Amino acid sequence: MRVGVLERYREWLPVDERTPPVSLLEGSTPLVPSRNIGPALGLERLYFKCEGLNPTGSFKDRGMVVAVAKAMEEGARVLVCASTGNTSASAAAYAASQRLRAIVVVPAGEIAMNKLSQALMYGAKVVALRGNFDEALRTVRELAAHYPVALVNSVNPYRLEGQKTAAFEIVDALGDAPDYLVLPVGNAGNITAYWKGFREYHQAGRCRVLPRMVGAQAEGAAPIVQGRVVEQPRTVASAIRIGNPASWEGATTARDQSGGLIDAVTDTEILQAQVLLASSEGLFAEPASCAPLALLVRLARQGRIDAQSTTVVVLTGNGLKDPDAALGNVEPPVELDGDARALAKALKL
Ligand code: F0G
Repeated sequence: MRVGVLERYREWLPVDERTPPVSLLEGSTPLVPSRNIGPALGLERLYFKCEGLNPTGSFKDRGMVVAVAKAMEEGARVLVCASTGNTSASAAAYAASQRLRAIVVVPAGEIAMNKLSQALMYGAKVVALRGNFDEALRTVRELAAHYPVALVNSVNPYRLEGQKTAAFEIVDALGDAPDYLVLPVGNAGNITAYWKGFREYHQAGRCRVLPRMVGAQAEGAAPIVQGRVVEQPRTVASAIRIGNPASWEGATTARDQSGGLIDAVTDTEILQAQVLLASSEGLFAEPASCAPLALLVRLARQGRIDAQSTTVVVLTGNGLKDPDAALGNVEPPVELDGDARALAKALKL
């Protein structure tokens, strides 16, 4: 029977009998072998970890379930977060399921409409702050320091505890860790969490190798790559439009300890990778999730990935979250009167 993250990885998480059994049956997402992109790049073992199949459509649910359960254990009734969209959807959903209040603060006009609609439908109080994500995060951190609200951003260590379970799942599925783990980097919580997960499994003898951690930022929002805060981050990938990541150090530690790298890709590369992924694998991921594929394509073409290596690309969020960003890059539908002859002619059958 399917179970959520708290149950599946109970002994690896900071929970006990006092922790409420929160679950939307998150986690246990598919690790799909590449049918076409891997062979085209000369990579024998390429996989996609499809985190967009979580209950609210992104990896955030893994961490949110732990953060919410621990907040409830500590008596909280109100959750608060800043978000580029996915965290707000996840916080709102878990709050709804536990009858808690959720307050989500998003940068005004900067998040994908479908993510906003999720937060609103789940019944969160949505505040659109004039400013960017970094300012929204600073604001909610200050709020949580002075008022009785539980902060559920990834600065909350329970979020990272939950998110590390994705690394466990990959090892459990492959029988070992991959050689490369490629993922997007925004606020940098996820790369920090994966590295923690792989290290814990390695220490416990569950995997022999440790992966090289390869992070992708968008060129206009690449503070870690440039080594300095980006005041006005810009990219089509709104989920990772972040100029001053909270887990900056966690990301550079993961990169350096693993012998990996963090590099930037352009918006054009991201959108090309998104179309490539959808049209050649049948996997539709949001733009931020396609940044790592764009980086992998570049590295493979430069011959920097060994053909026999095992590579996992983490598709962090579902493509349906942000269709507007994608639709500029495909042919619009043809409009016709409904008759078979006209249809056949238009299709050149
Ligand atoms: N991919 C997606 C789809 C995201 O929503 C995010 C972050 C990331 C990647 C980057 O992960 O921040 O751990 O490095 N979204 C956050 C949010 C910031 O508010 O939803 P990270």
